[in-house]
Amino acid sequence: MENFVFCSPTNFIFGRGTENQVGKLCKENGATRVLIVYGGGSVVRSGLLDRVRTALTDENMPFGELGGVKPNPEDDLVRIGIEMVHAENFDFILPVGGGSTIDTAKAIAAGALYDGDFWDFYTGKATVQKALPVGVVLTIPAAGSEGSGNTVITNIATKQKISLRCPEHLRPQFSILNPELTFTLPAYQTASGICDMMVHIFERYFTNTTETGITDRIAEGVLLSIMEEAPKVIANPSDYDARANIMWAGMLAHNGICGTGRVEDWASHFMEHELSSLYGVTHGAGLAVVFPAWLTVVSRINPHRAKQLALRVLHVSAEGKTDEEIIAEGIARLRQFWHSLGLPITLKELGIENPDIDALVRNLHITKGEPIGNYVKLDRSLTKEIYEEAR
Ligand code: NZQ
Ligand code: ZN
Repeated sequence: MENFVFCSPTNFIFGRGTENQVGKLCKENGATRVLIVYGGGSVVRSGLLDRVRTALTDENMPFGELGGVKPNPEDDLVRIGIEMVHAENFDFILPVGGGSTIDTAKAIAAGALYDGDFWDFYTGKATVQKALPVGVVLTIPAAGSEGSGNTVITNIATKQKISLRCPEHLRPQFSILNPELTFTLPAYQTASGICDMMVHIFERYFTNTTETGITDRIAEGVLLSIMEEAPKVIANPSDYDARANIMWAGMLAHNGICGTGRVEDWASHFMEHELSSLYGVTHGAGLAVVFPAWLTVVSRINPHRAKQLALRVLHVSAEGKTDEEIIAEGIARLRQFWHSLGLPITLKELGIENPDIDALVRNLHITKGEPIGNYVKLDRSLTKEIYEEAR
């Protein structure tokens, strides 16, 4: 096991009606002027935004609003948010929505206290030294941004989608998780979120670090639970307990607990970010295509974790089978599971008939360098092979 520091200081407030506590929580966390950030309108239609406004008003908390965050959020809205903070002296950022909204809020929180352009943090030109506090009202279990110190933003001019990791300054102060808020999710978003959280665990599970049995078993337990609960939420979107289990799993998948003591991989995420940057696809659906292709290629080179996953999580029986057969059956079962949730498993099914694989590979290595990943170090020829496998 590697040395590690694990700090997950976010206060999670979980359950029915918890969004009504948001005014009190902002106050307790030192807010005096709150900037609410939200997406394309789901929180308006559901009435959630009104309830958040009421909860703030009840605490005499002044607030402003910035709506219009798009899925795969873009840099221009972050700049507008930073200007609003400067003009109106907001000292607390409150995203009400999913990963795209939370990530925009984190970018505003860091960028507002920086003299240069916030994009410097994403290119590595500058590191985040301080950020305004962020509190979250979550509406979709998926990205795990409610418990992570990460934010992912797309720069429209450079066509780069880049993730920034800064747990010291970007973990939310609090995250409100009410499973009822997820009842209105379209099935495709529910399924994409489920895939995203599973891959957050896989990125940590595929490691060459040995003797991390406790982290393995936590990861396997969360994966098994997600696979048990997922069909229930697809069949009955208003199943509170299934939604609750999935919502908590999404947080556990990405707050770091499933990765302690080991080197993590993240190549599949980097490869998917190129897909969502070039083709605008939903992140979790892109992962349903990329991850099995990645696993197919890397397990030919480094099979041991793929075999363990197949046996312990994907219910493959080892009897009478070679390692190659066990792994192939595991990958087939994973694809079948995601397909059963309504997800695409090829680029074609994702709506990309003629992928520009050369552009994907070029952009990937311009942004992320070469090689990428850790479980198997991927050079250009291997990333090309993975995108080809995903066709
Ligand atoms: O914009 P609105 O109208 O709110 O609609 C959203 C959006 O269209 C809708 N939605 C969300 N909650 C809903 C709802 N519709 C009905 N009822 C509800 N309760 O769902 C759509 C997707 O929302 P989005 O915020 O984009 O989803 P998600 O949480 O999957 O976030 C995806 C983004 O997070 C990044 C991804 O790359 C992508 O840009 N990631 C962020 C991470 C992090 N910060 O730690 C890690 C992840 O690996 C990921 O890369
Ligand atoms: Zn993800």
